[in-house]
Formats: sequence, structure tokens, C-alpha cells
Amino acid sequence: MNGMSLQDKVVLVTGAGGGIGRDLAIALAAQGARVVVNDLGASVTGEGQDRSRAQAVVDEIQSAGGEATANGDSVADWAAAHRMVEQALDTFGRIDAVINNAGILRDRFFHNMSADEWRAVIDVHLNGTFFVSRAAAPHFKAQQSGAYIHMTSTSGLIGNYGQANYSAAKLGIVALSKSIALDMAKFGVRSNCISPFAYSRMIGSIPTDTPDQQARVERLQRMQTHHIAPLAVYLASDAAREVTAQIFAVRANEIFLISQNRPVRSLHNSNGWTPQTIAERVIPAMKPSFYKLERSPDVFDWDPV
Ligand code: NAI
Repeated sequence: MNGMSLQDKVVLVTGAGGGIGRDLAIALAAQGARVVVNDLGASVTGEGQDRSRAQAVVDEIQSAGGEATANGDSVADWAAAHRMVEQALDTFGRIDAVINNAGILRDRFFHNMSADEWRAVIDVHLNGTFFVSRAAAPHFKAQQSGAYIHMTSTSGLIGNYGQANYSAAKLGIVALSKSIALDMAKFGVRSNCISPFAYSRMIGSIPTDTPDQQARVERLQRMQTHHIAPLAVYLASDAAREVTAQIFAVRANEIFLISQNRPVRSLHNSNGWTPQTIAERVIPAMKPSFYKLERSPDVFDWDPV
């Protein structure tokens, strides 16, 4: 048995009724994992509920000979998050990995964003990731093993317009992942992030009225949801036992290791600084190292390959 097999492992994937999560669930099951397919069946903005979406993915896995069970609860609910983990234990007897993938968008420029738009996105992404991860933690601790994989976004890592709620939540998830990796390393538990690029319904509503827009959408369509699955399968497997506290990105056939915050430049003055000496010496020295006001497409400025 190679270390990549997920035979006998039980994996909970949130938001797995469509998009990236569906492909993750199918790929995990194809490697032998027994999968809890969670999905509320909400719209992109998080409204409504449709339990048949998770069940459809379970049906697909079962008809391919795999094992899966559907869960239609919301990750944004502490008790429901615990029920997901209980379902894994009741149905399959254990839990080995959690993939926090459920997500919604409520885009609005910061100066117009409402408290409800802020809360809804923080609830699903940041609170949901905490709730589901926390529900699995006692089991991971008791069995001295477990893998967390969390979906982050370049919207948080780099920046994007109109996504203050989403980018704050997604960068919060990066810090949460690092905290889990630190706190649970002594129990053999790992925690990593993936920043996916994929043409899902989340970015599939871009208009195609002009040739430029059509060309843009054709480029985006090269980044398919199934490209994300191999890295997630690897990270859930025992082959990744040395890999924790990392942030990866996947875009079509490219995989990136993303940097983490460290000091870039420093200046020291044994007499301390004044606003004036900061203006005169610190800022001119640091300015060449300042980051530009960039968005994700400014950094990933070549076509997906
Ligand atoms: P998607 O909209 O196709 O899938 C998200 C799923 O989460 C949906 O099936 C939805 O019903 C489910 N969901 C929403 N709220 C839920 C809740 N409270 N509880 C349980 N399930 C819930 O979107 P996609 O693109 O597949 O996104 C998956 C993840 O990847 C998200 O976390 C997203 O933020 C992240 N991501 C996606 C990118 C992309 O290019 N598609 C870029 C960066 C990050």
C-alpha cells in the first residue's frame, strides 16, 4: 500500500455538493476514502437550502463503487458542525481528515458593505472553519493523528476589489490554520491551506457580451475545479505526514507554495525614533521594499497553463 492511498480513512468535506468540493469528494473516494459529503445547498450568496445536492454527489460516489454519506447541515452553526463529525463516527467509525471548503460570497465595495454582508461571510468561512475543525479536534487528539485542509483565497493573501468580508475571512483562515498546526503538532495533527483558482459558479457569472470578455472567460475556464483535488488528496494522506503549516495555491496545472509574513527590512536607532526621523530616514530606506496596491490578477499576470 503506498502512502498516497486513503483506504480506511474517513474524510469530511464541507460544501461538497458542487464546484471544487464535489471534485474533492469524488477524488478522495476514488482513492479509497469514505467521505462525508456536507453541503447546505445554498446559493452563491448563501441563501436557501437544497439537501439533494450533497445526496447527488453521494449517489455518484456510490455508483462508482465508493463509500459516502450526505450531510445537509450548515458549517456556520456550532451544533451542526458537531453533528457532521458525529455522522462520520456513526457511519464510518472514525474521522481522519477535515476539508473546510464551504463558502459564499457577498461582494460589495467596503464603503457600502452592510453589517449583514460582513457577518454572513465571516460566519460561513471563518466561523464555519473554526466550528468544523474544532468539532473534529478531540477525536484527532485522542487518536494522535488527523489532517486539516482549509480553502483560502488570493483575495485574502493578495487582495481584491469589493471583498472586504471575504478577504478578511480567508486571511483569518490562514492564521487559524497556522494556530491549529502549532497547537496540535504534539498530537501528530497537521493543518494546511490551499488557495484554489477554479472556474466554478463562484466566478462563473462574468458576462460574455464582448470578444474581450469571451476571451477572458475562455482563459478562466482552463482553471478547472478538478485540478484542485490531487493536492488535497495528497495532503489528506499519510504521505504528507511531514507537511504542515503551509499555504499552497493551485491554478490549472501549476502548484505554488505561498510566502508567509516575515520582516522585510529593519532600521535601528539607539536614541529611538521621532515622527520626523521616521519620515526622513525610515520611510526612504523602506520605500523600495513597499508592496504595491496589487490585486490577485496583478501578481498572477500570466495565463493559466
Ligand atoms: P461553490 O459555490 O461552487 O461551492 C461552495 C459550496 O459551499 C456550495 O455547494 C454551497 O452550497 C456550499 N455552502 C455554502 N454555505 C454553506 C454552509 N453554511 N454550510 C455548508 N455548505 C455551504 O464555490 P467553489 O468555487 O467550489 O468554492 C469552494 C471553496 O474554494 C470556497 O471556500 C471558496 O471561497 C474557495 N475559493 C474558490 C475560488 C475559485 O476560483 N473558485 C478561488 C478562491 C477560493
